[in-house]
Amino acid sequence: MNKLVIIFGGDGFCGWPTSLYLSKQGYDVVIVDNLSRRKIDEELGCKSLTPIQSIENRIKAWKDVTGKIIHFELEDISQNYNAILELLKKFKPSAVVHFAEQRAAPYSMKSQFQKRYTINNNINATHNILCAIVDSGLDIHMIHLGSTGVYGYSSVGLEIPEGYLKVKVDVNGEYKQMEIPYPPHPGSIYHLTKTMDSLIFGYYNKNDNLCITDLHQGIVWGTETNETSIDERLINRFDYDGDYGTVLNRFVMQAAIGHPITVHGTGGQTRAFIHIKDTVKCIRLAIENPPKKNDRVKIFNQTTEQHSVYELAKKISKLSGAKIRYFVNPRKEDRDNTLKVSSKSFLKLGLNPTKLNEGLMNEIHKIASKYENNCDKSKIICNSVWKKDMIVDTIGSETPIT
Ligand SMILES: NC(=O)c1ccc[n+]([C@@H]2O[C@H](COP(=O)([O-])OP(=O)(O)OC[C@H]3O[C@@H](n4cnc5c(N)ncnc54)[C@H](O)[C@@H]3O)[C@@H](O)[C@H]2O)c1
Repeated sequence: MNKLVIIFGGDGFCGWPTSLYLSKQGYDVVIVDNLSRRKIDEELGCKSLTPIQSIENRIKAWKDVTGKIIHFELEDISQNYNAILELLKKFKPSAVVHFAEQRAAPYSMKSQFQKRYTINNNINATHNILCAIVDSGLDIHMIHLGSTGVYGYSSVGLEIPEGYLKVKVDVNGEYKQMEIPYPPHPGSIYHLTKTMDSLIFGYYNKNDNLCITDLHQGIVWGTETNETSIDERLINRFDYDGDYGTVLNRFVMQAAIGHPITVHGTGGQTRAFIHIKDTVKCIRLAIENPPKKNDRVKIFNQTTEQHSVYELAKKISKLSGAKIRYFVNPRKEDRDNTLKVSSKSFLKLGLNPTKLNEGLMNEIHKIASKYENNCDKSKIICNSVWKKDMIVDTIGSETPIT
């Protein structure tokens, strides 16, 4: 296996630290990104809390501090199929990692424009990469970042397996055991694209024997990794706004700037989580442990723990003294749910999980306090609703909203 990887979406929140980590581990890294995430910042009038550098400065800073070179190609992979094909032929990567999708559920629900953009961007990007791998005739392992959200967030009362579910089917009165893809149950247009991705993977795996790993990732928390903290010019992005900010980072940031912690509904929603330092390690483990030729699509649940939103808010409130405030839930989802997700595969491969702890929460708190002046408080409340007739609650209440 050569050590050249293409990172589609390598300028983003997960892609940038992954690119640095892989480069540090001796991989030749090529980032392909159209910088659309930075353009969405402009559209939303909001930017990363941390002062991220241009991609050119980031790459220069990495060379300055490590001597290592990361290549960058500016391409929209949902639009420019030939560019992907030429890049594959030119660099002949052993693996490609696909982060290049519009990844915020609230943004995907904003209006018809964002719904159509998310579908077009994500589905075309995924399909173009797979089609180009086949067209290139090269043996390339595709690793994709999916979401634990594809399983849906309703209480099912079982530990959700890694992608495939064993079922017994009644065939003429006799029970036959089968293993089927876990039934998808998307709760937003964004999650819908992730479930559609899965079908596309199944097809290309069956028809063209492509080697594919789909990582069903939990909500990523934390911001810095060992590599991004070497030099301030390498700093990772920190989204705090109602559209792109992920729940735990938002809560810690709200506490750091003296804003009440914004819980939706009762806070009874349970979600799966992973720290950014583990994300980058999981990607390396996935690259180095590809499925065997002719194996089905390999699915890992890339998550290390599950918590309810209220539990997180309570922990952060205890740590910081911040008050909790409840807002009408802008999402169409169960008021509360249980969630248990199996994630044995990465543990078997040697992942030593970074669990939620005070030290790490304090680290985020410190970063948020340091860059507090970059925060536009008007962007904190989520103003994207799942249906037109739902209200945007900007006031909130002291008691849970049932
Ligand atoms: N952040 C999380 O908590 C989380 C959780 C689960 C899954 N994921 C998945 O991980 C992946 C990366 O997430 P992230 O948080 O780094 O998102 P991000 O928005 O920060 O990064 C995505 C990157 O892809 C680029 N991109 C998007 N469309 C592109 C296109 N058509 N052509 C080229 N580049 C394009 C963007 O410019 C951006 O740099 C996404 O697929 C997301 O669904 C993220």
